[in-house]
Amino acid sequence: MITVESTNANPFELPVRVIFVPRGKEGELGVVVEGEGEGFAFHEGKIVYAVPLDEGPEGLRRYVARAIRIAREYRMDAIAIVPPDEEKDTFFFLAEGAGLASYLFDKYLSEKPFNVKMVYLISSDPNGVYGEIKKGLHFSEAANFSRDLVNEPPNAIFPQTLRDVAIEIARGDSSFDVEVFDREKMERMGMNAILYVGKGSSKEPYFVHLSYRPERTRRRIALVGKAVTFDSGGLNIKTYEGMKTMKMDMAGSATVLGVMKALSYFRPDVEIHAFFAAVENMPDGNSDKPGDIVRAYNGKTIEILNTDAEGRLTLADVLSYVSRHYPNVDYVLDFATLTGAIMVALGPYRAGLFTDNGDIRDALMKYGEVEGEGFWPMPFDERLGEKMKSRVADLKNTAEMRWGGAISAAMFLRNFVDFPDRWAHIDMAGTAFASEDSGYYTYGATGFGVRTILRWLLTL
Ligand code: BES
Ligand code: ZN
Ligand code: ZN
Repeated sequence: MITVESTNANPFELPVRVIFVPRGKEGELGVVVEGEGEGFAFHEGKIVYAVPLDEGPEGLRRYVARAIRIAREYRMDAIAIVPPDEEKDTFFFLAEGAGLASYLFDKYLSEKPFNVKMVYLISSDPNGVYGEIKKGLHFSEAANFSRDLVNEPPNAIFPQTLRDVAIEIARGDSSFDVEVFDREKMERMGMNAILYVGKGSSKEPYFVHLSYRPERTRRRIALVGKAVTFDSGGLNIKTYEGMKTMKMDMAGSATVLGVMKALSYFRPDVEIHAFFAAVENMPDGNSDKPGDIVRAYNGKTIEILNTDAEGRLTLADVLSYVSRHYPNVDYVLDFATLTGAIMVALGPYRAGLFTDNGDIRDALMKYGEVEGEGFWPMPFDERLGEKMKSRVADLKNTAEMRWGGAISAAMFLRNFVDFPDRWAHIDMAGTAFASEDSGYYTYGATGFGVRTILRWLLTL
């Protein structure tokens, strides 16, 4: 973890070799940096490095990220950063950016890459911005917690260990509770769609309900996450290209767990219930096969046409469970790396947001913008819903039509939600995992959604 500290010291007297300034503010230090873009100047034996500043919160996070990348390159463990202004929010975003940008998944590397350890944020009122810095770091820590869960290899994170993460979050905090269903319990309950996906795996499946109940409750929210700890495709096995990053297929649950983890610090007056069904999708002599028909928890039968469309099956049971046992929630949101089709539709920087609920749509669009997490409204389309009807069962698990695959998946899920007007489905298949270093992300998990949801919860 990086240390971020505010200080009103003269930056030239800090134990740093480099002082970063957002372009246009260099004059304050009595240093002139020539020209457009980045440049640097020497002053009293220190380097003053100018980084052009983009607009808004994302500009601030990227400013720090750029500084941290440069500091890494030159192996400087401490840096000073001059903010563009003295707004409190500015310190939140700079600290958040520092927390996100300093993240590396180097646990399994014998030789750890060099990393920055200390960031000084220059402020005339260090005590006044202390709280914002702390909050910003907690936001980034929650996202980084989620990134770790996704980046961990599938031989470290599988259904049982993911269950244990939820148990660990609940431990030692009386506002939290955790309930776990094992295979036998799910069999008795009729959560057949979850069990069905896990049939080919040697790993035991688990259904997990982690709840946070504060003393005062203004709202009640259910957060559901897809938790396929590895998606090989099953008998409809994926290609090398398709399979190589499928440890990310539990990213939805990692988003939800990142949010839950942060609640013990922020303690909002909102009751939050997190649900996930952790399974592994593997081919095997005992695995699920095309043509099978399975009865979901809400009684609807599903014809399986493609064992690689497994996420929607696990979510069908979880959403049915929430519908039956928590009908009084104000909102239910599910996060899922559900379809490759959403990546084709929206690219890697925006998640598909399927909802009829204006509150959720406005909140995610607004707070997503603040947190630099892209959401984009997607339509529910009845005609694609029709394509999910089977000739031999109530539903089938693929549309047998490639076009609009993310929408037909959302229409499938809709069959398992009893109050669709309070529901949102977020297809984050494109945004969960960065294929290259960019901004404050390095190759790997992004922690997508954690910060946006946290920001929203704290406003309710
Ligand atoms: N886990 C995948 C979706 C995915 C793709 C996530 C790429 C992240 C990156 C999902 O289970 C899947 O395989 N979906 C199929 C559905 C199809 C068989 C109807 C897909 O998108 O091809
Ligand atoms: Zn799949
Ligand atoms: Zn999947």
